[in-house]
This record gives sequence, structure tokens and C-alpha cells, in this order.
Amino acid sequence: MAVSAAPAPAPGLLHVVREAWGGVLPARYDEPRTRVALEQAVRAQLRPGLRILDVGSGAKPFLSPDERPDGVFYAGLDISEAELLKAPSGWYDQLQVADAGARDDALVGSFDLIISNQVFEHVKPLDAVLENLRSYLAPGGTMVAKFSGAFSIFAIVNRLIPHRVAVWGLHRFLGDDPERIFPAHYDRCWDSALRRMLAGWSETRIEPLYMGAEYLSFLRPAQALYLGAEEWWARRDLRDLAAYYVVTATR
Ligand SMILES: C[S@@+](CC[C@H](N)C(=O)[O-])C[C@H]1O[C@@H](n2cnc3c(N)ncnc32)[C@H](O)[C@@H]1O
Repeated sequence: MAVSAAPAPAPGLLHVVREAWGGVLPARYDEPRTRVALEQAVRAQLRPGLRILDVGSGAKPFLSPDERPDGVFYAGLDISEAELLKAPSGWYDQLQVADAGARDDALVGSFDLIISNQVFEHVKPLDAVLENLRSYLAPGGTMVAKFSGAFSIFAIVNRLIPHRVAVWGLHRFLGDDPERIFPAHYDRCWDSALRRMLAGWSETRIEPLYMGAEYLSFLRPAQALYLGAEEWWARRDLRDLAAYYVVTATR
């Protein structure tokens, strides 16, 4: 007779803090999940001949040409023409310099798939952007977006300090490129607000990612204490506190 082993009990929160103090992060940090989760959600939608709009794609279209199925048409929309022009030559079939919050009637019903990576925290009001993007999809079209949550430690600090101080800190402590740091508002970037704003879509899936500790990697004791708290709300699935979300929503 086969005897199945009982699942190992989750380690206590103090154990999580102690491990993190020693440099060992919880298992969910083992893979670059914030990127992988979006890749998986996008890949599930890919098929030949799609018309794709990458919103806020700027210098970095999410899919390189060799990741796109045959016959895909790839448009990039960004408020900054300078950012779009930094993308590798030939990666966009169409450039759209526009504020995602301003409806462009010419785009209505034009796309099968919208992708957006780390943009929604930069736009305001988010509900207007979501409605515009929904209208840009053809019937049955899907949007897949990843963005930062409003209540991660980073998002809170980012809102409390002037943008130029945030740019200095991110460059100084995490080595981020100042040119790649954009002002953020986090307008309604939390689970329950998202659910309300997406209520008119036919299907929605919101994956919360409890992965906010990487921003504290330069200060291990603070990171360890943060991880103790994050572990607690991750186990209780307090979704409004997630550091990132991956949203898949069908028009
Ligand atoms: C953090 S970057 C992300 C760029 C790219 N998606 C990536 O994965 O690297 C945010 C981008 O959103 C663009 N952006 C900010 N506000 C916007 C708006 N209201 N409408 C369209 N694009 C916007 C910025 O110009 C920038 O290119």
C-alpha cells in the first residue's frame, strides 16, 4: 500500500527572517518570477497572425521578432517618441506616440493581443487607460499586463519621496539606469480596485506576486524584516498588498 507523505509544515516566520538575514530568500524568489509569470501568460496567448499592441513598450518591446509566431503584426505605443526610437531597428511594425489615457479612435478594434510590462503604475487615471485598451481589442481579444502594486515597500517609499531622489537612490543602491526610471503614480494598482475596474471585461485573472524584497537587497536586515511581514501576508493571500500583479483580461 502506498503511503503518501504529509506535506512539510511551512517554516515559522522567525525562521524566514533568520534565513533572509543570512542571505537565503524564501523559495518563491528562486526564479525571476515577476518576468516568468508575464512570459507564461503572454505565451499562452500567442498564435500566428496576431495583431499585437505593446503598450508603454518604449525602448524594450516585450517580444523580440524571433519570439513572435509567423505573421504577427507588432505595434508599440508609448507617450515618449524618444523611448520608442531607442528600440532595435525593425522590431516595430508600427509606432504609436500617444498617451495610453487618451482614446485614439483609429486604434479601436485593431488588436487581438495587448501586452504591457511595468507601465500601469506610471499612468493616471488607470480606469481610463483600461477602458481605452479594452476598446483597442477586437472582440475576444486579450490584454496581458504586469505592473507594480501600490502597497509594496518600494511603491510606498517611491510616493513619499521626490522623483529625483528615487532616481538617485535606485541608481546608487541598485545600479538602475536613471534613463529607465519613470515617475510612478500607482493609481488603483491593487487587487480589489483592479477587480472593480475590470468588472466589464468578459474574463479576468489577476495573479498577485509577493516579491517585493529585491528592492531591499542592499540592506539585508531591513530585507529580512520585510520578508517576515511579506511571508505573513503571502500566506494569508492578502492580495491588495502584493508587490506585482499579472493581469490577463479578455474583452
Ligand atoms: C518602466 S518603462 C517600461 C518600458 C517597457 N515596457 C519595458 O518593459 O522595459 C515605462 C514606459 O511607459 C511609458 N509611459 C509612461 N506613461 C505613459 C502613458 N501615459 N502612455 C503611454 N506610455 C507611457 C514610458 O515612456 C516608458 O517607456
